[in-house]
Amino acid sequence: MSSRRPLVAGNWKMHKTGPEAREFCAALAGLVGEDPAVDVAVCPPYTALEASADALAGAPIAVYAQNVHENEKGAHTGDISAAMILATGADGALVGHSERRAAGDTDAQIAIRVRNAIDAGLLVVLCCGESLETRQAGETEAWVTRQIRSALEHVQPADIARLVIAYEPIWAIGTGETASPAQAQEACAIVRRVATEKVDGEVLRVLYGGSVSPANAAELMSQHDVDGALVGGASLDPESFAAIVAVAG
Ligand code: 13P
Repeated sequence: MSSRRPLVAGNWKMHKTGPEAREFCAALAGLVGEDPAVDVAVCPPYTALEASADALAGAPIAVYAQNVHENEKGAHTGDISAAMILATGADGALVGHSERRAAGDTDAQIAIRVRNAIDAGLLVVLCCGESLETRQAGETEAWVTRQIRSALEHVQPADIARLVIAYEPIWAIGTGETASPAQAQEACAIVRRVATEKVDGEVLRVLYGGSVSPANAAELMSQHDVDGALVGGASLDPESFAAIVAVAG
């Protein structure tokens, strides 16, 4: 255990309409209560950000977008800016999720997104993680080190107030195959060590993501360098997400 306050965030990916988000958030707020022992956030699709923020007004549950464009405005069809996210009532964004990297988001864009989103006032959850081939080749450490150095290129020490990093091995995302607690610990410790080149590593929260469930969450989050979870599938149901929040505290 460390003094870092855990964060449990639910990434809904391409699930839930605005009305569905509203219903989910009302149920989640009731289950989480007024004073959870950990920070809690949901990451709805863009079209449900406003409904989620509205339904969670006054509740201790934050709303983060699943991505954010690096520019303030312009000819970027299908993208949205940090100011647009903030105007929905949301207060953060994931950046560099592996599903976005696979869809074309580049290291250079991710580094600028981290910088500009923090400047705009968003909390950024920067995502990193290796593929199965990279792990099997014994190159996890080198891969994650390169991703973190690149993404934090423009980060300053003061940015720690708005920066969280999630380690999500691609082979564990949506597969039901979770990293073992020892694997999660080892990789999160690497993330923390590399991030310490830029920010205070004792303060930085490093989350684990990849098939986190109510059954495995407690053991994963009991690891010294694992300060919470980024949850996909198991965050879509209010009871199962609230169960993960409950064991994180
Ligand atoms: P799953 O929990 O569904 O494996 O998704 C993890 C993830 O990608 C969260 O961002």
